[in-house]
This record gives sequence, structure tokens and C-alpha cells, in this order.
Amino acid sequence: MPLIKFIDKDGKTIEVEAKIGLSLLEVARKYDIDIEGACDGALACSTCHVIVEQEFFAKLPPASDAEEDMLDLAFGLAPTSRLGCQIIVTDKIDGLTVRLPSATRNIMLD
Ligand code: FES
Repeated sequence: MPLIKFIDKDGKTIEVEAKIGLSLLEVARKYDIDIEGACDGALACSTCHVIVEQEFFAKLPPASDAEEDMLDLAFGLAPTSRLGCQIIVTDKIDGLTVRLPSATRNIMLD
């Protein structure tokens, strides 16, 4: 199974094995990693925001327009920002490293 590394808000790296076909949000939940995911992957929030390490960003399929629109609302947006619920685990992203932003903005509650 591909390895995924999450760097949490405190800078701690958590390395996990991820089942192919799951979203990064689902993987994070399985391992109790602190990603909110308020809309459960329905592209209606930006609380699953992750910042992808540069070397892996180009390996991911590009974000859809709907994902880009939601990302515009994310707190702490970076050039390699993505929504965790839209990144699907494949063999190609073995070793993927993502950083969790220091905060999220939940537009579903704001
Ligand atoms: S969980 Fe809401 S957009 Fe990803």
C-alpha cells in the first residue's frame, strides 16, 4: 500500500499506509489525523484543506473548477493547496507528503 505522510499543525510527521481508492480525507480519519472535513467530501467546505509538498503536486490530477472555487475560500491558501477529499490514493502518489494548515475556515458554519 502507498505510504502517505501527514505533517500536523505542530510539525509532527505521521506516516501511514493508505488503501488505494480512498481519499486523503478518508485516510486521515482512519488514523485519527486532525482534518475536519465538515461536508464529508461533498465539495461544500474547505475544511479538508491540505498543502501538498511541491515534488508531489505535479503528480496529482489537476483540481476541478469546483475544487478551485472551494480552495479560494480556504484559510492559509498556498500555491500547492488541495482539498484532501479530492485527492485519491493511487500507486503513483506513494510517499505523498501533505501539511495540514494551522487553521481552517468552515464556511458551512460561518
Ligand atoms: S470535506 Fe468538504 S470539501 Fe472536502
